[in-house]
Amino acid sequence: MCGIIGLVSDQEVSSTLLEGLKRLEYRGYDSSGIATINANKIERVRSKGNLSFLEEKLSNTNLPGNIGVGHTRWATHGTPDEKNAHPHITDKVAVVHNGIIENNNQIRNQLIESGVEFSSDTDTEVICHVLTTYLNSGLSAYDSIRATMNDIRGTYALGVLVLSEPEKLYAVRGGSPLAIGSTKNQNFIGSDTYSLSAYSENITYLKDGDIAVIESHSYSIYDHSDSLAIREKQSIIESVSLSEKGIFKHFMAKEIHEQPEVLAKSLSNYIDMETGTLNIPSLPYDLSGISNVTLVACGSSYYAGLISRDWFEKFTNVKVGVEIASEFRYREPPMDINGLTVFISQSGETADTLAALRHCKSLGQKTISIVNVGDSSMCRNSDASLKIYAGPEIGVASTKAFTCQLGVLACLAIKIGVSNGSLSKDQEKEYVQSLLSIPRLISNTLDKEDEIADLAHDLSNITTTLYLGRGQMYPVAMEGALKLKEISYVHAEGYPAGEMKHGPIALLEKDLPVFMMAPTNRLYEKTISNLNEVIARDASVILLTDEEGLKNIGYLANKVKAFVLDKTDFITAPFVYTLPNQLIAYHIALLKGTDVDQPRNLAKSVTVE
Ligand code: G6P
Repeated sequence: MCGIIGLVSDQEVSSTLLEGLKRLEYRGYDSSGIATINANKIERVRSKGNLSFLEEKLSNTNLPGNIGVGHTRWATHGTPDEKNAHPHITDKVAVVHNGIIENNNQIRNQLIESGVEFSSDTDTEVICHVLTTYLNSGLSAYDSIRATMNDIRGTYALGVLVLSEPEKLYAVRGGSPLAIGSTKNQNFIGSDTYSLSAYSENITYLKDGDIAVIESHSYSIYDHSDSLAIREKQSIIESVSLSEKGIFKHFMAKEIHEQPEVLAKSLSNYIDMETGTLNIPSLPYDLSGISNVTLVACGSSYYAGLISRDWFEKFTNVKVGVEIASEFRYREPPMDINGLTVFISQSGETADTLAALRHCKSLGQKTISIVNVGDSSMCRNSDASLKIYAGPEIGVASTKAFTCQLGVLACLAIKIGVSNGSLSKDQEKEYVQSLLSIPRLISNTLDKEDEIADLAHDLSNITTTLYLGRGQMYPVAMEGALKLKEISYVHAEGYPAGEMKHGPIALLEKDLPVFMMAPTNRLYEKTISNLNEVIARDASVILLTDEEGLKNIGYLANKVKAFVLDKTDFITAPFVYTLPNQLIAYHIALLKGTDVDQPRNLAKSVTVE
């Protein structure tokens, strides 16, 4: 899973390719590289590590050429070293690839037997050699690419340069996203709209099986049967600017602090401020007849789904299931024909969630995607989509997209409840008021960042920790633990507080840090019982609660570090209790000196299964 880009122009391309790659770095940053064709030669510059290393190399190296391809890598096959960095080349071709070639071992062995020498451990290099073999046999570049597509199995989006055709860039799609961006004098390819939006007036999405032959002033697309294909050209209305960090040291810090503003903006798309009721765009099916709701997602988006389950259950009175996409897609559970399946994804490109969406569509489910990236594959493949309007999220660890997902999920749950008669108009207004109070409440939490930074200081040497909560606070705890793991590499486990006694309690020992989420609600007392169990084993509790909650624990207040939050309700609590967990993870990571925005081994958008 990686980002690919390509450009054919009247001018030199390497610096524009580099700028385009910066917009794709969220897809992986293990290594990067650019190849061009210049003076009848394929030239390339590659580097291990994130794009700053490639940029540094390019500042000392001349990489001329009016045609080129670029790549930023998230390692699947082979270590994240320069030798495995794309573009991969032979004496005839240069290839950048996003995806996985599943039969690469088999093909590699055959090629080795026939005398081919490999210079990397990647599945992509197999593509280069198969393609070169076909070119050597006398096939045209186009026919060689088609023949290669027939040999390889898996998922791929490819940018291909062929030395014998130095004015043509080939773009190939077989399961991974790829689009063409065009202006008068140059044509681009890119893995997403974001990478193309700064340079293109129009965008055309390729379909699986397509080969596009691209020159600087024109391009043609051929479908899987080699017929000329007409693909819709869409104008790019808004050029999304590459975000700046502003006063913040990291994108993650900026994105945490943006939450009051972006949540207010996000909610304003779904709420009529004058009437205080929901204003959700009409959907292509009747929500009143929905028999059950299935929420499908990965990572933080999955935790957003788990939190929202309680809203869907309470507001809609229908059965709700929450599924991890990578498991769900292979389980083949029976699906009710009147079921609604909701796909939650910041990027709208996560391979497992997208595959689950396609599976559900084939089963006749009503589908809706909740995404941040508007033109994403999930938007295009679902019956309807609701955007979360979080703006570009650059930090790999999701923060503002997560809370905006929660906001939209709450709106959808209320909307279904009103549609099927489970909620009255008065209840709708009451819940909408709660939603509207969230920006103010989380802003109050952000005001206490210094307190959290002090707490992080005391915790900077921890090696393992537990996050506990009940009800919606359980997935909030899991998301808190995930944030800490992702960016500070500290082992953390999120667990249902009531389940602790069945295992994790064995981990409790003197001074083990345990975060407990305990807003005063119907589960407060039960959570406090669990708090007692933790204190009794000398662990060190960080209690997140409200004033009333702190008062109610009486003398125990002396035995915990308390972080006091505003009073919350069933709608607002998950938002308010998420913020301190984001901040604690951020400040611990700062003290540990990890790469907050680009944590090791992770990527923002996971387009491999
Ligand atoms: C990656 C990211 C996570 C994200 C998950 C799902 O693992 O690092 O932050 O939650 O993918 O991504 P999606 O774009 O589908 O929400």
